Amino acid sequence: MNIAVVGAQWGDEGKGKIVDLVAPRFSVVARYQGGHNAGHTVHVGGRRFVLRLIPSGILHPGVTCIIGNGLVVDLKALFEEVDELAVAGITVDGRLLVSDRAHLILPYHRDIDRLSEAGLGARKIGTTSRGIGPAYEDKAGRRGLRVCDLTDASTLEEQIRDGVERRNRLAGDDTLDWRDVLQQTSILAERLRPWIGDVSVALARAMAGGRAILFEGAQGTMLDLDHGTYPYVTSSSATVGGACTGLGVGPRSVHAVLGIAKAYTTRVGEGPFPTELLGPAGDALRAKGNEFGAVTGRPRRCGWFDAVQVRHSVRVNGLDALVVTKMDVLDGLDGVPIGVGYRCGADTLTEFPASLRKLQQCTPVFETMPGWHAPTAGVRSAAALPAGAQAYLRRLEELTGVPVLLVSTGAAREDTVVRNEPLASTWFGGGLS
Ligand code: IMP
Repeated sequence: MNIAVVGAQWGDEGKGKIVDLVAPRFSVVARYQGGHNAGHTVHVGGRRFVLRLIPSGILHPGVTCIIGNGLVVDLKALFEEVDELAVAGITVDGRLLVSDRAHLILPYHRDIDRLSEAGLGARKIGTTSRGIGPAYEDKAGRRGLRVCDLTDASTLEEQIRDGVERRNRLAGDDTLDWRDVLQQTSILAERLRPWIGDVSVALARAMAGGRAILFEGAQGTMLDLDHGTYPYVTSSSATVGGACTGLGVGPRSVHAVLGIAKAYTTRVGEGPFPTELLGPAGDALRAKGNEFGAVTGRPRRCGWFDAVQVRHSVRVNGLDALVVTKMDVLDGLDGVPIGVGYRCGADTLTEFPASLRKLQQCTPVFETMPGWHAPTAGVRSAAALPAGAQAYLRRLEELTGVPVLLVSTGAAREDTVVRNEPLASTWFGGGLS
């Protein structure tokens, strides 16, 4: 069975931990969009790994990892990650395939990202400054450089010259020299050569051979270019539709979709966040949840679970189930509010609006569930979850319309509760707990 894992909120939901947990049940883990703006954190045996580009399945020796055509790849960042894994004794040789159709992030994309953010002033997006947006702009503008172009010296030189000239015009200086960029890129290209391939063909062969695929989404639904809080989004399709375009597989290849959501909500960067907690309450949640970006270290904005927003994710992704992460962060509260609607003048909206102007005029409607004082932290069986936590999860299921499959109660793989055994054994063959 092939399963897609997607972020059901604004990213940072804990997808890395869940992908790592279930990865041994799959032969292939394939990323389909984004780039090294992602930071999938995995804790194994007391070690912390932050995977930015390489799929989170890489920590399991038998798993093949794929970087799809839908990604934008910064070769320098990719090799830094490969080298970090090598230091930890994890080798990617023979297990990593990079799509020949993936687009490249070059040093001028990073500069353009910073320059355009500076140019936006108060309307800035708050990007990760990794060059993600400018690389996708070049892709849509049909002037991007793809992995397959790395072997074509004349295309490479021409594209890099053009890109550097554009950067220098924008910056008003000529501190970046295209010859340096070409030289660095050519060295990295040589190193990449053994890993380049046609991902669509590789996946088709794997599926024909009965091998199970895990599609790994990055960022989250509300950062999706089409379905998120545009323009405060990333530049790729973080929803499940991106798996088809970003890997070259048909929609019937995805047999089930699993959405990952925190028990509350966080967001990094600018943009709307209806259930956000400002002031000391938000600070307290941030401190308790250690909500600082895995990639940029930026403090994350924190707020309550937003059922309107997660229902939007359930619909646009066709989610079959949710995983609720960081449940333990809510331990010890007297009451736990859940956003259930947006009051907008005389109306109460129960669907996430497209217009941010409209959203700005809304205030969230909360209902408050009783808190629980016995800890969920480190709990590993559904029966051991405090009654208040169980009631909270049941309410999330009612409000979102999908079952909660797993609950994460801590950073380690083992700190996981299987809440829906029948579904877990259908999808993963059981034995997760
Ligand atoms: P970009 O992807 O760097 O262009 O940033 C666009 C927006 O997406 C910004 O608000 C970022 O903070 C956000 N973003 C990008 N990647 C992630 C992620 O992996 N987790 C959370 N937010 C992200």
